[in-house]
Amino acid sequence: MELDEIKQAALKAINDAKNSDALTSVRNLFLSKKSEINQKMGELKNLAAEERKTFGQKINETRNAISKAFEEKLASINAQALDARLKNEKIDISLPANSYNKAGVNPLALVEEEITEIFLGMGYQVYEGSDVESDEYNFELMNIPKDHPAREMQDTFYLSDTMLLRTHTSPAQARAMKEARGGPVRIICPGKCYRRDNDDLTHSHQFMQIEGLLIDKGIHLGHLEKTLEAFVKKLFGEKREIRLRSSYFPFTEPSVEVDVSCDKCGGKGCPTCKGTGYIEILGAGVVNPRVLKLNGYDPKEYSGFAFGVGLERIAMLKYGIDDIRRFYQNDVRFLNEFKRR
Ligand code: DAH
Repeated sequence: MELDEIKQAALKAINDAKNSDALTSVRNLFLSKKSEINQKMGELKNLAAEERKTFGQKINETRNAISKAFEEKLASINAQALDARLKNEKIDISLPANSYNKAGVNPLALVEEEITEIFLGMGYQVYEGSDVESDEYNFELMNIPKDHPAREMQDTFYLSDTMLLRTHTSPAQARAMKEARGGPVRIICPGKCYRRDNDDLTHSHQFMQIEGLLIDKGIHLGHLEKTLEAFVKKLFGEKREIRLRSSYFPFTEPSVEVDVSCDKCGGKGCPTCKGTGYIEILGAGVVNPRVLKLNGYDPKEYSGFAFGVGLERIAMLKYGIDDIRRFYQNDVRFLNEFKRR
């Protein structure tokens, strides 16, 4: 065949090739070593110099034209194949997703988070206490010596003669004071507590508290009252009022019991508040100078206030829960009622 004929035949074959296999055969036929064009290269040596040059050029041009057509066709076949694959593998994103259950949150955890937020906002730090405590920190350093009657109400689980499961979060006070080495303190300590209680509607052998302690120069009962008022209004709403009743705790002097005005009757008295208009929510007081001394402070220089909140009680009031045991039963129907905001 003449070069022009070869070129026409090749271009037609390339054009007709339907897929990459067909195209490969066409290439083998027209561009491989055994192809006609290559044989024509062999003929070059028989030609005179002048003719060799023009003929050589023509061969090259022909081969380049075929190559180019081949590359273009290959690109177009590949593009078509990709298109077809993309069409096939298309995902229908309009299908509804599989639904999954988002876990509820234990209301105790919710209340703990909320109270912690409020005190963080007032400049307090979270102090991590420990469930396992020594007799010294749980009792002695909180001014509850061995023969003190308060020990009777706070019987607990003993791990040895000196180690026990803490009966309240108050030992965190002693630990924080020790770490502050006689300087100012502003902490809350949320955590579990344990007592040898028989479980009933409002008592559990394991429960949660949040302890609070602030020590600085010139701190008095007025600071405590305003702090707790701000706390209660943030937690329960602006309309709620607090009331302080005098009480007794070994580690505070004076000591108070803090009540919040009843949500149902607004303070008039109803069955919820047993006719008193108020509901007790926490114990507090001015830190007993003896406790300051026991923990390395000079009561003439520093004073402070402390409080202890029972989380179950707060959660029961806030969410209208009537049985403390619900917090610990892991009943998903109960837990699913509570979600993070
Ligand atoms: N620790 C007390 C209890 O478990 C609660 C308490 C009362 C803590 C008064 C305090 C406080 O810090 O000042 O019954």
